[in-house]
Amino acid sequence: MIPVMSAQRATPTTSPTNTMAPAAINETPRVDITALKAAAASDAPVVDLRKYAHFDNTPGIGTEFRAPGDYRDKSGKPAVSFRDMLDDPASLRALGKLVSERGVVFFRNTEISTEEQLKLVHALGVLGGKPDTSGLHVNPCTPPGQKEGDEVARISNSYVFGPQFKRDQSSILLRRVGKMGWHSDVTYEPVPADYACLTIRTVPETGGDTLWASAYEAYDRLSPPMRKFLEGLTALHKGLGFIQIAQKFGIPEFRENRGSPENVGQALEAVHPVIRTHPLTGWKGLFVNREFTQRIVELTPHESDELLQFLFDHVADNQDIQVRFKWEPNSVAIWDNRCTFHTATFDLDNVVREGTRGLSLGEKPFLDPNSVSRREALEKQGVKF
Ligand code: SIN
Repeated sequence: MIPVMSAQRATPTTSPTNTMAPAAINETPRVDITALKAAAASDAPVVDLRKYAHFDNTPGIGTEFRAPGDYRDKSGKPAVSFRDMLDDPASLRALGKLVSERGVVFFRNTEISTEEQLKLVHALGVLGGKPDTSGLHVNPCTPPGQKEGDEVARISNSYVFGPQFKRDQSSILLRRVGKMGWHSDVTYEPVPADYACLTIRTVPETGGDTLWASAYEAYDRLSPPMRKFLEGLTALHKGLGFIQIAQKFGIPEFRENRGSPENVGQALEAVHPVIRTHPLTGWKGLFVNREFTQRIVELTPHESDELLQFLFDHVADNQDIQVRFKWEPNSVAIWDNRCTFHTATFDLDNVVREGTRGLSLGEKPFLDPNSVSRREALEKQGVKF
């Protein structure tokens, strides 16, 4: 889903020209970087979040924290306090590790403000050792006249690019097919996202679920010759949705500093390895997605089209590597874009679903040829699949 942008900047943007003003990344942190870096460098054992009531949604992806007494928690363990965790770098470090391993982590009965969403994802990135130059993602453009800033993405099924631009949700013929929506956030940027935090604030009674898929499992379920072939390839990613929005709504230019000094330029495009190594876990994952990946650089157009189609379907058609999350009021999802794909479900008729997302930028994607797959790593630790 193309997010609609809003955010927390103090200075209201009142004209198209102002909304396009470049954003300075040193405005973004709002977190105690020194304390976080000390926690990141600490030799203290990582806090074990599994001592709290939780369950794994599926073997391959997703962990959910629930209040004790919930029918899914048979452990009798204490409930985690999300609020306490937000202020404790040691717990946040453990949370970042868990999110990077499990792909996505869910909390229930948890209110989170947009400011806290931004702080949280940035803190997780800093604790995970992201470059000092990587801040929060700054959206390429913001609706003219929008009072809020540019770092929080407002997610809505009823409008694109601001409430004045309605989506046509009433016609099933115009509705997007769910499998077309799979993506990792902002892979059109040279420095794409690491952690994201989403909450749905207007929750439909039914429908509007979000699905995530594991990029680790997508890699693990390819044959060894296919993996080897893909490891030699790079792919072009492009933010075509934003380019179309800009054309449609007469936006003169995109912001030039979108949370990293490398995220500049009007093309909204980047070339990344097709298989990337996750810097924290050291595990390999598939890194192409239907929303943003345009073509495999080293192949002919026809070869590229066929191969990408196969890889997109490998993610979208394979429910064995996916988790589906039903939103309740005050639910929070935190995921790592370096090892997951996600998509909303487009099944609502004239029912509003809206939320907010914060997005941290990570590092430039890379492939370490000596890195291993998730299954290889876990099998060495005695985990049975
Ligand atoms: C997103 O694509 O980041 C939001 C997904 C959703 O709306 O469920």
